Amino acid sequence: MLKIDGLNVYYGESHILRDVTMEVAPGEVVCLMGRNGVGKTTLLKSVMGLLPARRGAMGYGDEDITTAPPHVRAKLGIGYVPQGREIFGSLTVHENLIVGLQARRDGQTTINEEVYELFPVLKEMLSRRGGDLSGGQQQQLAIARALVSDPTLLLLDEPTEGIQPSIILEIEQAIRRIRKTGTTAVLLVEQYFEFAKNLGDSYYIMQRGSIVAQGDTADLTDEIVHAHLTV
Ligand SMILES: Nc1ncnc2c1ncn2[C@@H]1O[C@H](COP(=O)(O)OP(=O)(O)O)[C@@H](O)[C@H]1O
Ligand SMILES: [Mg+2]
Repeated sequence: MLKIDGLNVYYGESHILRDVTMEVAPGEVVCLMGRNGVGKTTLLKSVMGLLPARRGAMGYGDEDITTAPPHVRAKLGIGYVPQGREIFGSLTVHENLIVGLQARRDGQTTINEEVYELFPVLKEMLSRRGGDLSGGQQQQLAIARALVSDPTLLLLDEPTEGIQPSIILEIEQAIRRIRKTGTTAVLLVEQYFEFAKNLGDSYYIMQRGSIVAQGDTADLTDEIVHAHLTV
């Protein structure tokens, strides 16, 4: 469904992504792993259209999206949860979710109940300001805001970063339920390899902007992890 072919991305003259080739199949959870600074966030931003490709191509379904702007990609069904969450702190939880509706392809103006089933805490806090939620609740809100648009691909950038263990478990369960529905694929950037191993169907490991290992998560061995991920 998502096909990235030989992607090269730069910040100014800094060559960040080098010939990245990757695929995400419908409904699949793909984990992108790698140490700090290797280019994981840059890749997700590129998939969302926030950074231009200098060389290479990107396709989504039957569409060539290599040069498509972010709102076009959102309308095609790509949802994005940035690293650090970036919810609207001065808007209420409900208003944050309403913002997410704008990317819906069917023009629906109500929020699906399933979003609250995934994250019940949000239903209790609909009138609270986003900025007053805990970090873990904000992360859940950020994921929910992306889900209300009913994406066919959800980009998740380090959803467990700086979050307490109980909420990490809730997020893990939510991703598991998303996978079960089979209608939303997930491209998950994750540093905790246990989290990735528990959830993912396949994995990619990145080093200095290049993919250096990939395969089925079931075949991800400690050896591979030690070679590429531990310090
Ligand atoms: N806005 C930016 N301008 C210039 N360089 C950047 C910018 N953002 C990130 N970088 C550089 O790009 C590289 C990859 O960063 P990033 O994609 O955030 O890595 P990761 O998400 O894997 O930690 C790093 O070397 C980082 O310093
Ligand atoms: Mg990052």
